[in-house]
Amino acid sequence: MNANTSDVEWEPLRLAATAALANAYVPYSKFPVGAAARLEDGSIVSGCNVENASYGVTLCAECTMIGAARMNGGGLITEFYCVDGQGAILMPCGRCRQILFEFSAAATRLMTPSGVKTMDQVLPDAFGPRDLARIAAAPGEASR
Ligand code: THU
Repeated sequence: MNANTSDVEWEPLRLAATAALANAYVPYSKFPVGAAARLEDGSIVSGCNVENASYGVTLCAECTMIGAARMNGGGLITEFYCVDGQGAILMPCGRCRQILFEFSAAATRLMTPSGVKTMDQVLPDAFGPRDLARIAAAPGEASR
């Protein structure tokens, strides 16, 4: 087991994600999800999915986790871990990968069903803040 997969690093996140499951509101899918991240300052934040009678506006666990991160001082994610209701490692959905990308760095690591991965591995060539900054710095013909 290398440093990237050490229990010391990942076990607290697995526990926080698993604990978050208890708060999930999933009357429709009955599929609770718990997510947890370590931030740059070493703090751990977590979140759970919160469903809605208007199914499409459901908040994924990653969304409420990012809200918690912002409410607790913010900062970039260093490690991320997500579990399903059986405690198995869950891959963040596509939308949530984008949400996580906003608060990631090259060093960010995600635990996935196929091992520890970088953000670039799970969302290659991601659209992000830099794309907006590029256009703001050199507006072209499309500017209004
Ligand atoms: N879900 C998450 O919370 N995160 C994901 O990355 C995948 C899906 C939730 C949304 C919904 O409440 C349930 O899982 C079933 O799709």
